Amino acid sequence: MENKTQKRNGFASGIGFILAAAGSAIGLGNLWSFPYKTAKYGGAAFVFTYILSVLIIGVIVMVAELHIGRRSQANPVSAYKKVNKNVGWLGLFAVLIPFFIICYYSVLGGYTVKYAMNSFAGNAGILETFTGNAGEVIMYTAIFMILAILVVMAGVKGGIEKASKVLMPTLFFILVAVAVYSLFLGEGVSEGLNFYLNPDFSELGFDGILAAMSQAFFSLSLGMGIMVSYGSYAGKEIKVGQSISMICIFDTMVALLAGLAIFPAVYHYQAVSGATNVETGGLLLMFQTLPLVFEGMGTFGQILSFFFFAMVVIAALTSVISLLEVVTQLVIQKFHVQRKKAILVVAAICFAISIPIGISLGLVLNGDKSMLICGQNWLDFFDLVTNVVLMPLGALGACMVLGWMLDKPAKKSDMFNPMYLNETLKKDGLNLGWFGKVFAVMVKYVTPLLILVVEIFGVFDIIMPANSITGIRAFSSNGLGIVLTAYGLCVVAIAVYFMFFKKSETGNNADELLIEEKQVKAE
Ligand code: PFF
Repeated sequence: MENKTQKRNGFASGIGFILAAAGSAIGLGNLWSFPYKTAKYGGAAFVFTYILSVLIIGVIVMVAELHIGRRSQANPVSAYKKVNKNVGWLGLFAVLIPFFIICYYSVLGGYTVKYAMNSFAGNAGILETFTGNAGEVIMYTAIFMILAILVVMAGVKGGIEKASKVLMPTLFFILVAVAVYSLFLGEGVSEGLNFYLNPDFSELGFDGILAAMSQAFFSLSLGMGIMVSYGSYAGKEIKVGQSISMICIFDTMVALLAGLAIFPAVYHYQAVSGATNVETGGLLLMFQTLPLVFEGMGTFGQILSFFFFAMVVIAALTSVISLLEVVTQLVIQKFHVQRKKAILVVAAICFAISIPIGISLGLVLNGDKSMLICGQNWLDFFDLVTNVVLMPLGALGACMVLGWMLDKPAKKSDMFNPMYLNETLKKDGLNLGWFGKVFAVMVKYVTPLLILVVEIFGVFDIIMPANSITGIRAFSSNGLGIVLTAYGLCVVAIAVYFMFFKKSETGNNADELLIEEKQVKAE
């Protein structure tokens, strides 16, 4: 039990932890990719599959990661080492993923800042001019990163928790207001709702099922040490089951509401302006179509545009904060440096990598394909490497470690017995009540298998992509390059671990507290 007088760094309250974790989960994945994927893959059929994926994969992986972090009160490398000293490399591998996501997510974050600030000048038609201006893109990426740095620099309690407590309710309030407004626009609303939610299982297909599963990983920020890190700062007193239910409910609600805010407005715009062929998918939905929609609403549309993009900035910001935190936590604890120095070094490296990403995306959006890697602009390249290939592996690792390595039973047959695992977990401080037994079966057997399916088919889809017109699959050497790069990065992470991390201490949150105290004394 935690001694009341013993000092601990981390979240001050359960609700602070929930809001920060929800802040990580709620991001561009909810406000942007969930709505368009739902529309693409059969509306309510996709929503149903998504919710099922959250329940049978998302919740399980989140519990696993959170428990691994909470029991160790340390960064992901130390946390995995503490379960089993042979799997510390998984922690380093997991942290590598957020490192790369920061680089491209911040470019998109920069776009959202630009669009929020430019709302009153009008955003319609600026996509090409803005993205084609590398200097401006880099500047906005920097502004976005600085906002995130300032929060992370202030620490978990004083920065992340405080910011989440203000930002998350603000986001929710704006989203509900925009969705209600959108639903009362009149003409076109029912067509928009029909486009978004009309259940059509024939549109779902196997691709849709896979998309729903991988959307669940991304949306819940799983497979990359985030929940290990946030869990480590959560303290033993938080109720894991309750907290995770709330995080998943918030995350799913925001995703659903985002579609209700976007599609009725898009279809209303189409109905009143007579515009046809409006883009309803991908990057263009948010950065080209929505500005047109807002502009079509006159002066009030400008105000709406400001609030909408401010909300997207908030969502992206709280996600990048979590990505930065997990890498920063490791740097602080492993190298015994102050938080300020650690965050500045991490952010500087990420910013340097984000520059070519921003330039390459801008070129592609302007029809210039001179700066591609493996046939993709840099942003899509990093997105495929991290989200399709690496993220499921990180999640699989969390399940396998918790399901199979927590404890070596005296009787060999107990190894395969989920009920034995449930008892072990209870002794280890994870009491999930009636759900414990279900969890033990899932984490040991079902969820890892499902994740493996996501990994295998995700990789297959990159190496043998379907032609967008004929639907026929063919080998892609570029796709193979993407997959090899991703697996190459795994090998590098493992090698680095064995060279520099395995034998030496990788620190914990208590060490971080000492570093902070020393710094306070020195000041
Ligand atoms: N969950 C965030 C979203 O839905 O946009 C993105 C994200 C944040 C992914 C943090 C991964 C992560 F570790």
